[in-house]
Amino acid sequence: MEIQAPRGTTDILPQDTAKWQYLENIAQKVFANYNYQEIRTPIFESTELFTRGIGEATDIVQKEMYTFTDKSQREITLRPEGTASVVRAFLENKIYGQAQPTKYFYFGPMFRYERPQTGRYRQFHQLGAEVFGSHDPAIDVEVIKLGLDILAELGLENFALHLNSIGCPECRPNYIEKLKDYLNPYLEQLCDNCQDRYERNPLRILDCKTDRDLEFMEDVPKIYENLCSECDEHFDQVKDYLDDLEIDYILNPRLVRGLDYYSKTAFEVIYNGLGAQDTIFGGGRYDALVEEIGERDVPGIGFAMGIERLLLSLEEEGVKLPIEEGVDVYLITIGETARKEAVKYMYQLRAAGFKVDLDYLDRAVGTQMKAADRNNAKYSIIVGENELEKGELAVKNMKSGEQFDVAIDKLVDKMRDFLK
Ligand code: HAM
Repeated sequence: MEIQAPRGTTDILPQDTAKWQYLENIAQKVFANYNYQEIRTPIFESTELFTRGIGEATDIVQKEMYTFTDKSQREITLRPEGTASVVRAFLENKIYGQAQPTKYFYFGPMFRYERPQTGRYRQFHQLGAEVFGSHDPAIDVEVIKLGLDILAELGLENFALHLNSIGCPECRPNYIEKLKDYLNPYLEQLCDNCQDRYERNPLRILDCKTDRDLEFMEDVPKIYENLCSECDEHFDQVKDYLDDLEIDYILNPRLVRGLDYYSKTAFEVIYNGLGAQDTIFGGGRYDALVEEIGERDVPGIGFAMGIERLLLSLEEEGVKLPIEEGVDVYLITIGETARKEAVKYMYQLRAAGFKVDLDYLDRAVGTQMKAADRNNAKYSIIVGENELEKGELAVKNMKSGEQFDVAIDKLVDKMRDFLK
């Protein structure tokens, strides 16, 4: 049987890689605009980094990690997300000793053993940002605005920012008690998964897709109405900054995120019309994570965006990315001598910076013409014995059909004019 790519993974072929490159380029420009620098961390890490960082009780750690023992009996996991790795790098490289805040971005593949469907894969890609060393609510808003700017630069419009504060170790336990008291009489009406979550991870009951429409869920206590004064003040300031910048948001008390490291601000950007997997990006503050992983008390905040979901959203919205396809020049050769000369011209034109190709299969002129079309050539150039004798080549503008005789020794200059 033919070997296929593992379930939940895909090849990204040239017609799509062009879109990925465009998108990564735009994101890089926005990151530079905000003074974020790129960090690249390994694709696999010690399993413990994720169990400790993401949280033992999360779906990711419980069910979704690609974990194996390597040949030296080390417990290894393919990264399911980027934040824990960036925190580890921050600690290991003693970046906390540098002037803070420090601001990073990354791109890369992540791995989760989830049930594949549109927008959900086992190998997927994120672009993300992490900021260390500041409690300032303005940085929460910077991180959100940065993500929104990437969407805006790409021309996406039909999305909504959801916002919540999930408090801190000071106030969250009280809220959880209140939540459990409220849910207790309804326990048997919850789905099996949530009955289990009731003890293990009660906050996640709030965003359960099965239970969210149950009548009693409507009046569930809101976490942002149960914050301590510090979290409350912080949340107010985040909202003020968002208002000042005229960024619309929906207060969503059910937004709790699927990773355990968050405190205070939590946010998600949802695309309208993507089906079940509609979160384009999500993130929040994680003031206790650095200490959890490396015993340094440094606050952090960040987000990650699913690149596949971003592309699906752009497609759904009919956004056409301005991607340059095709070659500048395709050389068509007739006869052996002409072909040898044409190879020289090709390298002269390439050296001048043009995208140039020719036929490598010794095909008939008509077939070479078709190849020029297939390659979306802006110009074709015919090189034959006659042309060489005359010292002039037949240059054709493929779009207008206009044809010009161009002196061979002026070819590069002329093409520069034509392609300006
Ligand atoms: P997350 O919400 O688990 O957060 O993932 C962020 C984004 O990655 C999602 O909104 C989605 O677009 C994409 N994503 C997640 N899982 C899949 C999947 N199986 N297939 C396709 N796309 C997926 C994090 O990963 C946090 N590290 C974000 C963060 C950074 N928080 C603070 N800093």
